[in-house]
Amino acid sequence: MKSILAGKKILFGITGSIAVYKAAEWVRELTKAEVEVTVVMTEAAARFISSLTFAALSGRRVYTGMFEADAGEEMTHISLAGECDLCIIAPATAQSMAKFANGFADDLLSTLVLACKAKVLVFPAMNSNMYCHAATQANLTRLQEYGYGIIEPEQGKLACGDEGIGRLVAWETAREKILSALAPQDLADRTVLITAGPTWESFDPARHLSNRSSGKMGYGLARAAGRRGARVILVSGPSAIDPPPGVEIVNIINAREMHDAVMEHYKSADVVVMAAAVSDYRPAKTMQQKIKKGGKLLDLELVPNPDILKKLGQKKKKAKRPLLIGFAAESSHHIEEGRRKLKEKNLDLIVINDIIGKDTGFAADTNQISLIDRDYGLEKLPLLSKEVCADMILDKVVKLLQ
Ligand code: C5P
Repeated sequence: MKSILAGKKILFGITGSIAVYKAAEWVRELTKAEVEVTVVMTEAAARFISSLTFAALSGRRVYTGMFEADAGEEMTHISLAGECDLCIIAPATAQSMAKFANGFADDLLSTLVLACKAKVLVFPAMNSNMYCHAATQANLTRLQEYGYGIIEPEQGKLACGDEGIGRLVAWETAREKILSALAPQDLADRTVLITAGPTWESFDPARHLSNRSSGKMGYGLARAAGRRGARVILVSGPSAIDPPPGVEIVNIINAREMHDAVMEHYKSADVVVMAAAVSDYRPAKTMQQKIKKGGKLLDLELVPNPDILKKLGQKKKKAKRPLLIGFAAESSHHIEEGRRKLKEKNLDLIVINDIIGKDTGFAADTNQISLIDRDYGLEKLPLLSKEVCADMILDKVVKLLQ
């Protein structure tokens, strides 16, 4: 029950750009995530930062030259290319990309890249004129044709003093690309509709009824499903989180809008995951003017909202699809309530979460969930990050789709 990264082997090629110091942080982050990072530096890279830094951060030997100290090991060096799950080159200079694009093998790193069967991700970093030069762009196009992933550098102030494109991307961007490259593509060709966040039910122009949902779990699921190759439609209530890259976002405010958006899109979905905390009730009337403060008791009449998931469950009795996943946010009798809702709403899977436990439920980065599938099989998971929870839920979804 670990992240996709844990236990993976990454061959980390470092070339001679001033951005080498940023790669030190990346190696540290990957090692913290239990990745086995093997660093290979070009001679130029080793002039910027000593290989000792990377050896200390990765806890492993760093390779710099084809024919260094223990001669006779060069074939062992080549085996590094065969053993890795992923190869990343960061920062990648214009020179190194020119070598990779033309099949040069005149130093250890270019030799390994040529011998590598795993996916290669290239993170260029250089002066913007060098990056924009037709020769560099032609090399990038060629690398893309070879199937390499090219992660375009960022715009901004460059180390040489110029302003423009060429900065090595931020770690968060790199992490996302690395996770996507390592994720199983078991949701490729599937469309997954996910709802997330709260709904706001207005009773005057300034106020609404809502709940404490942040959208973290639903957005985490959308991100994880996208990494696993799915087309993702995310129907989201108000949330402060940025939509994950590549998802089709449909923003809604209240439960009736969420209902309409889900009804519009569910037919194209293979899987619907209702992670949203839909408000069960809405004010019977929305006042046009702000309700004035008065000393008297204020009655607020509430009417029930449509139960979107239940409606999909009823439709599913005939259509047999899509796969339906519900969430049950409970504060007591979790499992009994989960079983009841699974049956009542005709679901394939229900995710039960404890909303009053420590570090679980709304707004937390971690969650403690239990899964009950359509055969009433129960799986209780320990406290995990929402990112790992999302992958555990999707593992189950993939099994149920089979
Ligand atoms: O019955 P309860 O609200 O606890 O069920 C929770 C599940 O039903 C969640 O998956 C939630 O997204 C969904 N739901 C819904 N429409 C509602 C209320 C909840 O689809 N009006």
